[in-house]
Amino acid sequence: MFETLEPQAPDALLGITTAFAADQSPDKVDLGVGVYRDASGATPVMAAVRQAEQMMLAEQISKSYVGMAGNRQFAAFIESMVLGDATVSALAGRVITLQTPGGCGALRLAAELVLRAAKTTQVVVSEPTWPNHVPLIGGTGLTMGHYPYYQVATGGVDFTALCSALDALAPGSLVVLHACCHNPTGADLSPTQWQTLVALFARRSLVPLFDLAYQGLGAGLEEDVYAIRLFAAQLPEMLVAVSCSKSFGLYRERVGAVMALASSARQAGILMGHLQIIARRMYSMSPDHGAAIVATIAHNLPLRQAWSDELASMRQRIRALRVGLASALGSVTGEPRFDFIKGQQGMFSLLGLSPAAVQALATEHHIYVAPDSRMNVAGLSEAKIEHVATAIGAVLGQ
Ligand code: LMR
Repeated sequence: MFETLEPQAPDALLGITTAFAADQSPDKVDLGVGVYRDASGATPVMAAVRQAEQMMLAEQISKSYVGMAGNRQFAAFIESMVLGDATVSALAGRVITLQTPGGCGALRLAAELVLRAAKTTQVVVSEPTWPNHVPLIGGTGLTMGHYPYYQVATGGVDFTALCSALDALAPGSLVVLHACCHNPTGADLSPTQWQTLVALFARRSLVPLFDLAYQGLGAGLEEDVYAIRLFAAQLPEMLVAVSCSKSFGLYRERVGAVMALASSARQAGILMGHLQIIARRMYSMSPDHGAAIVATIAHNLPLRQAWSDELASMRQRIRALRVGLASALGSVTGEPRFDFIKGQQGMFSLLGLSPAAVQALATEHHIYVAPDSRMNVAGLSEAKIEHVATAIGAVLGQ
């Protein structure tokens, strides 16, 4: 039977890790997959996570099933972290949250839920977007499209084009939005632009699906969910896919959550039932460990403070790397071409290099970025800024 299958191309992002591992150069730099690295190049286990794991090891008395919706303490914390306690209480039971295997699991469950509710729904993602959005959501059979987003000339958002594209969508269309730290561009909307957008969503009866994978790594834990809270307060329905990979450094634990806002508490209960059945038929239940870590941190004040402090220092370090890189690139190229990097948010920036330049960075300079020239700024270290900037200048012919 399996002779019918053709070899698959490597994943656009995860394939970089393989290419990097095969490179024997001592000077190699991995700026591909989105993981945070400290000054020594390590992706550390956050101190609060390590302590929570030690507590769990000492205290956990059973490995029995948790239940189809996952860890309820975890879900309550995610609602509070994302929506804020005031919004959760104002929504009066209209929001439900189910633990998922990572943010990817959340995105897929959200898409499967939409498919069940209205299988002809058109889904649109930003141009560009995270490369896995289209196969992950489109793999359900939903029709996928794009809306314009990034403006190369400014390194910001083409808000006029974005609004006119969304204005032309059919009512009921599902719009995938990056809540903060847009992947791959690093270009985010301002609070004023989000306010314009929520009015457009209400007027055109569009449904948002927020991808929230970087809370706390942009402007701050509260600031990064500004749009989600705004939309939750003004729209009848909304979906959110939450990932704890980056915000808690729990990448390999695969911990996330899908959140659904319904027009009534009764409807929310129905959505929870559907999400549980969808999960049961795909993988039954989420793995426990990562969500239990988050729940342990959430319910222990000193651990929660330690986590939030460490996250803040990661955020500040990424900002400093952005400033340092933009300045080094300015010196190397002699022009402000890369100044946009310091004004952007989160882990990524799109360098705007040609495929040939991306290839030359890897083969001639042992520096690995994504094929679309997305750089994981959070993978850089202060010591490597000069080397990376010089290499980028060289592949640009400077
Ligand atoms: C990334 O964009 O590099 C990360 O979100 C990792 C992934 O799964 O693609």
